[in-house]
Amino acid sequence: MKNFKLNNQKSIPAIGFGVFMISNNGQTYDATLAALKAGYRHIDTAAGYMNESDVGKAVKDSGIDRSEIFITSKLWLQDYGYENAKKGIENSLKALDTDYIDLYLLHQPYGDYLGAWKALEEAVEEGKIKSIGISNITVNLWNKFKDGMKIMPVVNQVEFNPFTQQKELRKVMNENQIRLEAWYPLGHGNKDLLENEIIVSLANKYNKNAGQIILRWIYQEGVISLPKSTNPTRMQGNIDIFDFELTEEEMKSIKDLDTGKPTHDPEDPANETRLMGLKIHD
Ligand code: A2P
Repeated sequence: MKNFKLNNQKSIPAIGFGVFMISNNGQTYDATLAALKAGYRHIDTAAGYMNESDVGKAVKDSGIDRSEIFITSKLWLQDYGYENAKKGIENSLKALDTDYIDLYLLHQPYGDYLGAWKALEEAVEEGKIKSIGISNITVNLWNKFKDGMKIMPVVNQVEFNPFTQQKELRKVMNENQIRLEAWYPLGHGNKDLLENEIIVSLANKYNKNAGQIILRWIYQEGVISLPKSTNPTRMQGNIDIFDFELTEEEMKSIKDLDTGKPTHDPEDPANETRLMGLKIHD
């Protein structure tokens, strides 16, 4: 596994195993354990996924030293605001059954955002969280929040894949040394993407599958990816991308696939209303 450097000089494995929408009834436990066995050392969960405790159990049972595993989790909107966020952080630590979280993000950009950010900053000072970051932040939202942050976020986790390249956002994030993390790196299984002619021809050339070509492209772009797979062969294959390199021309041919249209718009008020209404505890 290759690592990237964050703006606080800490390292992050370039590919993480995402557990979004895998249930907490043992399925996330099995998937996380399988991912760790396959060689993943970075797991991406969230309080809002309601499966932190399965991740924590799998990390414990894997027999791998905690210091070798990078765990990301995220604070849910219901726990925003300074006081609530302090409790939310404690709840994540407890559910993950760990003394510290490697990376903790503010999951969605609504509510008392800066109050929650202050609690994250304090948790860094206390050693409970090593790095903090943001998620689903657009350029407008960045401009709204940035002046209220003492600690610069290390990442912004957003929708990113060859069809959704976030070019303007990337420019602004680069200026601030905030690395992008890709959710839906494979377009959430979008057939138009996975069966795209250019990607399939590169897959044939390098004797890889379409997903591996996309993940290699994302890696060469310097973006962290969080592919999800419950299929053991694909799970294993998705980190087997470090034995070939796309040429500059090939990188460009994928860069040209950008539609400029993410499927999720964080600035849409309907998304704000819907997400603010999602409760994960009493
Ligand atoms: P499966 O779990 O059966 O492997 P994303 O990470 O963008 O959300 O995409 C996840 C979806 O892509 C899942 O439906 C997953 O299905 C599928 N998938 C994961 N890895 C690959 C791959 N290498 N090639 C094709 N599809 C993949």
